Amino acid sequence: MPRLTFLPSQKFTEVEPQTKILLGGRKAGVDIRFGCAACRCGMCGVRIVAGQETLSPMKSTEVELLRRLKLTTDGSVRLACQARLDGDCTVDLDFQDTYNPDDSFDDDED
Ligand code: FES
Repeated sequence: MPRLTFLPSQKFTEVEPQTKILLGGRKAGVDIRFGCAACRCGMCGVRIVAGQETLSPMKSTEVELLRRLKLTTDGSVRLACQARLDGDCTVDLDFQDTYNPDDSFDDDED
């Protein structure tokens, strides 16, 4: 089963393939900031440290939301409520402290 590791705590868990990072976090006992769990609020962005290639491809809704948040869409940042893993993956949760969805949504939407 895929192994999902969280930084900086280094807590990890093994999950069924296609498990979302958000659910894996709950299983591992780590706090991932999130809100809607449905690709709307943008609160659940995490940085992918390793295993980016094992994650499900981004859907257009995830790409659009990352753009609104002014976050990269190169795959190194994913929404934990959307990305599913099929192999070992390491996720940095400190990244969540680097942006505030409320700030981004106050701006113009282009
Ligand atoms: S929890 Fe709202 S976008 Fe992921």
